[in-house]
Amino acid sequence: MNFPAVRMRRLRRTEAIRSLVRETRLEPGQMIYPLFICPGEGVRKAIGSMPDVYNVSVDEAIKEAEQCAELGIGGLLLFGLPAEKDEQATGAWADDGIVQTALRAMKKNRKLDKLVTIADVCLCEYTSHGHCGVVARDGDHFHIENDSSVAIIAKTAASLAKAGADVVAPSDMMDGRVEAIRAELDAAGLEQTPVLSYASKFASAFYGPFREAADSAPQFGDRRSYQMDGANLREAMREIDQDLAEGADMVLMKPAMPYLDVIREARQRYDVPMGAYQVSGEYSMLRAAFERGWLEPERAMMESLVGIRRAGADFIVTYFAKDAAKVLG
Ligand code: PBG
Repeated sequence: MNFPAVRMRRLRRTEAIRSLVRETRLEPGQMIYPLFICPGEGVRKAIGSMPDVYNVSVDEAIKEAEQCAELGIGGLLLFGLPAEKDEQATGAWADDGIVQTALRAMKKNRKLDKLVTIADVCLCEYTSHGHCGVVARDGDHFHIENDSSVAIIAKTAASLAKAGADVVAPSDMMDGRVEAIRAELDAAGLEQTPVLSYASKFASAFYGPFREAADSAPQFGDRRSYQMDGANLREAMREIDQDLAEGADMVLMKPAMPYLDVIREARQRYDVPMGAYQVSGEYSMLRAAFERGWLEPERAMMESLVGIRRAGADFIVTYFAKDAAKVLG
């Protein structure tokens, strides 16, 4: 059948009909809100390149978390800005580390029971050089050691889980980290803690604003020897295969908008729960366009999020989580 028998516009006539036939939905519970936790009390330090995003001390993080719980947001992704950094990322796995301290405070608060607390597991916020692993120097050259980094990353994951993280999410892209984390968690009696691996993480210019928020810019070199080349979709599938074989319970795809095809392909191949991270640069460029009056804020925000869901993500890590939850009511 064809026009005039078929008129596609019949089902677009009213909002009620459009809503009935809508294929993709976004709910507050499908969004994860990132928090950047810093030392001190009563601290709310604005991030220049990310409007309405702050470094917050633990007490302020609790207030943010309570607001997220009230809005029905699914969970939090926690990053830490330690008081001190060193070559071995000691602050990442310290019992009294900044995220560990925040997690213990959150777990005491019954209002936050509805939130899934996800601890980002990486070393770049804790190393003096800003790389996601251990740096080995050889004259003028350097490289990021894989296996010694993995040992510290696994220790960090167990420390965060012990402090109360519901989920640990390694974002370092070292080889073999998921297996090492699983083994370390199990050995510590934390066999119920799931691993959400950033399985498909590309070396991206869109992380720029995050590095200001997390104070984690590499002091030399870049991350291209461990994060993936943005041109590679097949390699992304191999990374996911690998992480699932090592025991990942869920996978995270990152960034989102420039890699929607990668999300789609992963959705078709794998039946595991899958999230996508709408990263800092995706947020900041939209916010910049909103400030200039170049895009309608609410519509552009919602369209960017629904597009990620339509590509196949079950949940979205996004700095818009609170704003979008308010729109969704
Ligand atoms: C840590 C990490 C990064 C992001 C999440 N975890 C930065 C990076 O890899 O350089 C980026 C998140 C964002 O841009 O919002 N390795």
